[in-house]
Amino acid sequence: MIPAAPEDLTPARVAQFLNTRTLGKSIRCLEETTSTSDEVHRDALNGAPHGHVVTAESQTAGRGRKGRRWLAPRGVNLSFSILLRPNLAAEQVPSLTLCAAVGCREALLELGADSGALRIKWPNDLNHQGRKLAGILSEMTLGKGRSVNHAVIGIGMNVNLDTALLPPPLNEEAVSLRNILGHEVDRALLLARLLFHLENAFEAGFSRVEEKYREGSSTLGQRVRAMMENETIEGLAEDLTPRGALLIRRDDGGLTEVQAGDVVHLR
Ligand code: BTN
Repeated sequence: MIPAAPEDLTPARVAQFLNTRTLGKSIRCLEETTSTSDEVHRDALNGAPHGHVVTAESQTAGRGRKGRRWLAPRGVNLSFSILLRPNLAAEQVPSLTLCAAVGCREALLELGADSGALRIKWPNDLNHQGRKLAGILSEMTLGKGRSVNHAVIGIGMNVNLDTALLPPPLNEEAVSLRNILGHEVDRALLLARLLFHLENAFEAGFSRVEEKYREGSSTLGQRVRAMMENETIEGLAEDLTPRGALLIRRDDGGLTEVQAGDVVHLR
């Protein structure tokens, strides 16, 4: 169990709890920035190592998937980004985000979240009883050919937020770790445990965490609507490809592979 102590998020406090090989060994904890992912992209250009992390108490231009904004009140949540220098082709990067979802879920289960309630909505939202607990955004810059120069995995998690204070409809749509566990959480300890499980998931790769992803998925087996760039389809979320794309059995019997997009679960 995590002690109920909302302490400062500082490099020294994170280091106290950290037992990773590389993730978070290099870390900057900021009071405010535009986006922690902007900071990590900049640090990457200046030679920051694989596993470098930036956190912020407040982001003035936090971003989510599909160009959406990511808003979080100052000081109560976790907003952080991780630099990965993977040896990957661009097509493989989406599967990193799925690994990130597995890593976050493993850390949260270890800290006492209920496995039946804490589910991954494809591709990488972490929901608790259908309410959003965390979101993950992966970005990359390409090098020569289609190889990835570096990838930045940005994670926003509702931690000690009292969601009852959010305006509707957010108070109904969001949930925090404090809501789930019934007490506040030390964010430095939480970050260290997240980094530990994220490192394991990234190193394993999607093929070796796929089973855990499937176990935690709330999307597989559901009727869904998928909104892609050029079309919207409905059908049964039947399976995943080896790279983590979603296979949807359309009502006309055909199969569509959704590599990127938003899904809505239908009843
Ligand atoms: C989503 O669910 O749409 C993804 C949200 C990702 C938010 C995090 S917070 C830390 C990092 N910095 C950002 O600007 N975005 C990500």
